[in-house]
Amino acid sequence: MKFPKGFLFGSATSAHQIEGGNYNSDWYSWEKFSGKKGVSETSKIACDSWHKWQEDIDLLEQSGQNAYRFSIEWAKIEPEEGVFNKEAIDHYRKILETLRKRQIQPLVTLFHFSLPLWLANKGGLTNLKSSYYFQRFATKIAEELGSLIDFCTILNEPNVYTLKGYIQGDWCPGEQSKYKAFIVFCNLIFCQNRAAKAIKKILPSAQVGLAMNIAVYEPANDTFSNRLRVWATKMIAHRLFLHTVMKKCDFLGINHYMKFRIEPSGRAVMLGEEKNDFGWGICPESLYEVIRENAGWKKPIYITEHGIADASDSKRAQFLKDALSAIGEAIKENIPVKGYFYWSLLDNFEWDQAYKMKFGLFTIDRAPRDSANVYKKLIEKYQEK
Ligand code: BGC
Repeated sequence: MKFPKGFLFGSATSAHQIEGGNYNSDWYSWEKFSGKKGVSETSKIACDSWHKWQEDIDLLEQSGQNAYRFSIEWAKIEPEEGVFNKEAIDHYRKILETLRKRQIQPLVTLFHFSLPLWLANKGGLTNLKSSYYFQRFATKIAEELGSLIDFCTILNEPNVYTLKGYIQGDWCPGEQSKYKAFIVFCNLIFCQNRAAKAIKKILPSAQVGLAMNIAVYEPANDTFSNRLRVWATKMIAHRLFLHTVMKKCDFLGINHYMKFRIEPSGRAVMLGEEKNDFGWGICPESLYEVIRENAGWKKPIYITEHGIADASDSKRAQFLKDALSAIGEAIKENIPVKGYFYWSLLDNFEWDQAYKMKFGLFTIDRAPRDSANVYKKLIEKYQEK
């Protein structure tokens, strides 16, 4: 079976995790001074992609990919409040131009967990003006780079950001406050909608959306109360946010990693007997399930992240085969899945885990793993030329 012409076969990264030198960001300062769960190494160098971005594009080409999801770092574009850095804008312009020249479709993310330090010092996303600041940044990007950007996931995983940064507190800014989490959740809705509106005003034909982390949840049994629990879990985990932003989105980006069973007690048990290095269960059927479940939004679907931490590279090849075959099943049912972005192109700085978790098709030294070649072969198998 071939996927429809134009299907995007890519991989994803984020600026803070690969570029290095994100000194004006809240995350860098958190890593250095207050990583309370002990980030042993910092993102100072990361993959040094700020300097080695051309090599990264070579890796995409080498493995036959025709799309790349990466993020533009707000802290580098606007290192001081209201002051935009021309050199940083030019840097991303070069990346976008090179991708286009090499016929690799860029998918640009505008917020992937890191904020400029000046905003963090004003309360970050708890600041009531944060969505105004974000809209100003999005407008600047659309004005400066708009001719090269036609496809944009504005926010990455607003749900995970709120949970890890404001409820569990193991990510920057390390807060554990439901009150602040609620404010951040609301401000992220404003950020997404205001930026979508601003970008569309400047670039009416651009496709805008977001990359939402969506897990699969199944009830432990079929009683009414248990199904209600699953419904409520999904609502809190991702649906509520989506209900407030999908009207202004041209597509839905799904980042998918996990499947859970909701017990009668309300406890979420992660499914999958086989585990990846993170301890996350591997459930080959869940990608198909998450696509099916979200077909109801009636928008094109892109899998904007799907990946496995697997240092030995013993499970990644099968993971990729299962993923593309799941997408094939969904396409057969006429669900408009338009692209797949593996997480990640290369091993990188994995937040509070630093460099321990290896998600890459390539190592940090840009050596290919066998699975990079498997991905290439799968692309050849499914791609309609
Ligand atoms: C995030 C990535 C992260 C990946 C693996 C996603 O939630 O968007 O930044 O590296 O998961 O943990």
